[in-house]
Amino acid sequence: MRLTAEETAILDGKRGAGAAKAMGILHSLGRIADAEEMVEVGSVQVSGVSYKNIGEYGLAFLEDWAAMGNKAVVPAFMNPGGADRTLWKRLGFSADFVKKQEQVVAALEALGIAPLLSCTPYHAGTTPRYGEHVAWAESSAVSYANSVLGARTNREGGPSAIAAALTGRTPKHTLHTDEGRKPTRIVTVRCKVPGIADVGAMGFQIGKAVSADKKGGVPYIRGVAAPEAPIRVTWLKALGAAMAASGAVGLYHVEGVTPEAMKHGDELKRGVQQKSEIESLDEGYAALGTGKGPVELVTLGCPHASRDDLVRILGILNGRKVKAPLWIAASQVVREKAEAEGLAEKLRACGAEIVADTCMVVAPLKDLGLRTLATDSAKAAFYLPSHHDMNVYFGSTEENVEAAVTGRWPGSAG
Ligand code: F3S
Repeated sequence: MRLTAEETAILDGKRGAGAAKAMGILHSLGRIADAEEMVEVGSVQVSGVSYKNIGEYGLAFLEDWAAMGNKAVVPAFMNPGGADRTLWKRLGFSADFVKKQEQVVAALEALGIAPLLSCTPYHAGTTPRYGEHVAWAESSAVSYANSVLGARTNREGGPSAIAAALTGRTPKHTLHTDEGRKPTRIVTVRCKVPGIADVGAMGFQIGKAVSADKKGGVPYIRGVAAPEAPIRVTWLKALGAAMAASGAVGLYHVEGVTPEAMKHGDELKRGVQQKSEIESLDEGYAALGTGKGPVELVTLGCPHASRDDLVRILGILNGRKVKAPLWIAASQVVREKAEAEGLAEKLRACGAEIVADTCMVVAPLKDLGLRTLATDSAKAAFYLPSHHDMNVYFGSTEENVEAAVTGRWPGSAG
């Protein structure tokens, strides 16, 4: 792998030990991936922020790196951590956990990484340009950046994202190249996919199909109409999140919808051998919705909600008060704006809470005494049973709001 003179100087420690360590990681990863060179990145999103996931070892790793003194040289921001930094007490998080979580945030801030604590940076002021190289880490954000925005990023791990932040570079391979962005499978959809849970169920099925022939494959989806704005963005982010969960998909194309399919659709489809069809969403719904008994918490906002999502949920609530807690995960930026325009107060009046800095998958929900959740997110429904041993209901946003209002899943015996 070729390094420029400047990259070699960084590797040799001319810019400090922290940057040298970073370049060493990127150089090794680039060689493993057969990259020929580095590419400069416009922004970096760092995952591995929740203390629940990284624990004491991860915290020590970050503190050691921060003590070397280097800082991010490009805009860099954090994925969600393990707790709402403002409302943690009211939501039931323990002071001990929050203290540890704050230490993680402090170590990352010392590395120059901003505490955005969100998986939807594009709802909080960071929207990469078409064709721009970035180094993002959270799987749904990676998918959105690649597929919907047409930016270019591989899915970074926690350390490789920090390394990209400290050097402004990442190895150029896979989704950074034209070749790596070609579809590996054409998926023809023969059923209607109007809602957020519908597209999540479809994404779950497509992710499984793509992972069967090539892990991290790239689907080219045809035959499906994306809904119009304002729900269109939420539909696309839900699709990417679901496929990333079930099939490690970092890029997808939707015919007539996503930018690379619009620009180069015929060229992209040429020569693709693998093909599959989706006739119904039953398989996805059956695999993701396994809940039983009364609903203890309804969690929306996976990926993190936009202002439009908050308005939509408020409309579905239509003034009704919730019986089971209803959390809507979003970034601090989105919550502050919702506070400023009175939207947050209207949601609170119904008993719904905008929860920032964290989400249902990376928060220590079991420690909060929770066992049975409901969600409209296929990604959350995919991970909660395996990562948290949770009992999960999965369905439309309307069914989730109904569950919050009544405390039981519509049509269930619970
Ligand atoms: Fe985001 Fe958490 Fe879902 S990081 S995509 S809200 S699992």
